[in-house]
Amino acid sequence: MDDADRLADPSMIEFIRRIRDPLARMQMEHQFAVDEVLTKVSILRREFLHLHRYNPIEHVGSRVKSTPSILDKVLRRGIELSPEAIRAGITDIAGVRITCSFIADTYRILDTLTAQADVRVVTIKDYIADPKPNGYKSLHAILEIPVFLTTGPVPTIVEVQIRTIAMDFWASLEHKIYYKYEGAVPAHLTADLSDAAEVAAQLDRRMEHLHQEVRTATPPSDD
Ligand code: GTP
Ligand code: MG
Repeated sequence: MDDADRLADPSMIEFIRRIRDPLARMQMEHQFAVDEVLTKVSILRREFLHLHRYNPIEHVGSRVKSTPSILDKVLRRGIELSPEAIRAGITDIAGVRITCSFIADTYRILDTLTAQADVRVVTIKDYIADPKPNGYKSLHAILEIPVFLTTGPVPTIVEVQIRTIAMDFWASLEHKIYYKYEGAVPAHLTADLSDAAEVAAQLDRRMEHLHQEVRTATPPSDD
């Protein structure tokens, strides 16, 4: 059975009807969790700017997974068709992506965020120290934070990705290429992407050195 058949299956139609409301609630809670993380990141950014006179974060993006992509993942992963199983089994319903100028800042942001008392770290994957075979680099953190509702706190999972501008540039192109070829990327493009990942890493290293040098340099005096 392909996905279209499975979606047209009477048991699936019944499931979708049953799950509509719990799913909408789940998405709302994950949006609240995203809002909490965005507030945390905004506070860190402003305090950092105040202390160090530069902004460590270039861009922050976020999204809550749409109903079709949640159902798609449920089918792909063979996750049990219940709200509880979906909540536990899909850790990227809430996603926040933080783009930093420099590698050191990606770690700094991750460390400060994960040290907060109301943040529970579920997993951390360091694809900067240990890139994926295709060259993908990023810090991935699965965090659990409480969302305070009328019924009390609801622990909610958020996937946070932190990377540099160069890593983000590479990842968005790789993503487009991967989707265009539906995963079967021609070998010459895979090789070019791998080269490009190395060039991006070189750029990150050079920018970081330059930045360090400028920060520690004493400017020439006027007299
Ligand atoms: P899934 O995304 O659900 O498959 O999670 P996973 O268990 O494979 O976790 P992983 O940390 O590998 O990836 C999570 C997310 O990181 C993905 O959904 C993408 O947004 C991003 N990502 C991971 N690998 C790549 C990659 O090779 N290229 C790009 N462009 N993005 C990637
Ligand atoms: Mg993956």
